Amino acid sequence: MPILEKQAADGRDSQVLPKVPVPPLTQTLDMYLKSVQHLMKEEQFKKTKAIVEKFGAPGGVGEALQRKLLERREKTTNWVYDYWLEDMYLNNRLPLPVNSSPAMVFPKQPFRDRTDALRFAARLICGVLEYKALIDKRALPVDFARGQLAGTPLCMEQYYRLFTSYRYPGLKTDTLRVNAASKAPEHVIVACKNQFFVLDLVANDKQLSEVEILGQLEKIVKTSENSKDGFPPMGLLTSDGRTEWARAREALTRDQVNRDSLSLIENCLGVLCLDEPCGLQPNDTNRALMMLHGGGAEKNGANRWYDKSMQFIVGMDGICGVVCEHSPFEGIVMVQCSEHLIKYIKKTPPEMVRSSSFRELPPPRRLQWKCDHQTQALIEAAGHRLQRLVDNLDMDVFTFKAYGKEYIKKQKVSPDAFIQVAMQLAFYKCRGRLVSTYESASIRRFQDGRVDNIRSATPEALAFVKSMTDERDTFSDLEKMKQMKEAINAQTNYTIAAISGMGIDNHLLGLLRSAKELNMEKPEIFSDETYVTSNHFILSTSQVPTTEEMFCCYGPVVPNGYGACYNPQSDHIIFCVSSFWEDTETSSAVFVTALNEGLLEIRELCNRSSAAVSKPADSSQGASHAKKSGK
Ligand code: COA
Repeated sequence: MPILEKQAADGRDSQVLPKVPVPPLTQTLDMYLKSVQHLMKEEQFKKTKAIVEKFGAPGGVGEALQRKLLERREKTTNWVYDYWLEDMYLNNRLPLPVNSSPAMVFPKQPFRDRTDALRFAARLICGVLEYKALIDKRALPVDFARGQLAGTPLCMEQYYRLFTSYRYPGLKTDTLRVNAASKAPEHVIVACKNQFFVLDLVANDKQLSEVEILGQLEKIVKTSENSKDGFPPMGLLTSDGRTEWARAREALTRDQVNRDSLSLIENCLGVLCLDEPCGLQPNDTNRALMMLHGGGAEKNGANRWYDKSMQFIVGMDGICGVVCEHSPFEGIVMVQCSEHLIKYIKKTPPEMVRSSSFRELPPPRRLQWKCDHQTQALIEAAGHRLQRLVDNLDMDVFTFKAYGKEYIKKQKVSPDAFIQVAMQLAFYKCRGRLVSTYESASIRRFQDGRVDNIRSATPEALAFVKSMTDERDTFSDLEKMKQMKEAINAQTNYTIAAISGMGIDNHLLGLLRSAKELNMEKPEIFSDETYVTSNHFILSTSQVPTTEEMFCCYGPVVPNGYGACYNPQSDHIIFCVSSFWEDTETSSAVFVTALNEGLLEIRELCNRSSAAVSKPADSSQGASHAKKSGK
């Protein structure tokens, strides 16, 4: 039976996909050495090489761990899933805003007044319900890979977690709980002026109409305006470090009132945050900031509940978007959902207020809290810590307008690889060296596939960026072009390996975890300085393309790093670059300047080279030895 018919017939699409492979041990170890040699000092690399060789020797520890992984692959749907989820998300103790939760930023909405904003919010909720109905029926069209290795069907499991997941804070590690679809929640939580309301979406077995939702939202706004009897800004606790929040939650759950309120939040479909005007210019950078952290407790930072996977933000000033708890799904799924909502809002004509579509409904309940002095103090401390994070985030959303994907395709190279190489050039221009870089590579070709890493700081990229920045200008255009092609090819080959399940980061993590499960002492390869350094991703990058006018952004993953999310469009590229002000070596504006300069220089190089090819007679000297521009 053809794959797609089977998917439609039994509704268990991922079952037909292959399992993630376990790469051959020697292949991973060779790739590992190649990925770090040029980034480490020679002495250190020599040490690492010896450690790796010992680990991979016949009959050695590596082989024993590899056997364990192969057994695990037989027994599980996806051998790396739990290891990866814990390592990437659940064990991380940092606050979710900025450090973990990515956001989608919508274009600024032209609301004339509060009613306009609430109407938009009501339609957005209707769009969510429509999308959820598709998910519940398992009627979403199966995604197919595009670009490299195009055409293979992709695992759809991440979609089924969009509205049913909740991340519980824990003292040592968090827990991601996914409700069964049959226990599908029928309410959203509405955050308004830092208070939380239960908006039931079904009354008397009938889903609320858009007009009814609007009516309920108006009641919520009215109630929240009566701030005299407001509760403390509980949402701030969810913006805190995970261990801090786990402690506070433990104290809260001693009271039945709090347990009931928490349970309603934990089992909701999503959170709708009705934000107050933030008072900032609604430019791309400020809108991104508001999505990532809400501007701290003084603005809308407390009007959130970060544990819930989907939070839809509708600002009364037209600043809107979505912020996601990342552990249940990747940015690509968040984009698909967001685009569905925006299309729904654009295409569906506003519902007319007819008496038949409007029932008298009881006002939405406001969640109650019992909060002692100790919890109050914890909320205050969480607010201070969030403010520090807000003050620390250096964000720069930059639209590169000189060219986009189509120009790059005309050079007959992969646009993604080209952009990655350009980012390596930008980093080198800023710091005179390359650093361990992460690019997310989807492994949704496999059952329950999430991502692996493309280590973009390849030796070929280093050779290219050196040729482009050489002060003595010793490299001809021909040589630079050759280095560029080699860098892009190396990047493309790594991409193909990673999306085929042959990346090294998941594999090394699996070997490490296997050793732990076997109660072995940590093998030296994992305590080696090189391994630690190569897992400290100073440059954390990800392609998140969109077809609607919107963009994705996220924060850096290490204190001295950059987050660089990019959205290639046919004639421009949106880059969202983030870093922390507290780190004096990083600066988003400086990185953006270098990126712009590098992208322009690469185009000039390509153009000069193609001119030289088409007019060899008059440009035999000039073009191929032209000076580097921009200096
Ligand atoms: N010449 C001309 N065109 C080329 C080309 C070449 N040599 N190589 C590729 N192209 C074209 C492709 O056909 C594709 O065309 P399309 O736009 O018509 O589909 C386009 O260029 C893009 O391909 P490419 O730039 O190679 O990238 P990709 O789409 O294969 O993406 C990854 C590469 C790594 C980004 C992708 O595989 C992936 O994993 N994406 C998910 C990332 C993710 O999870 N992000 C969210 C993390 S939270």
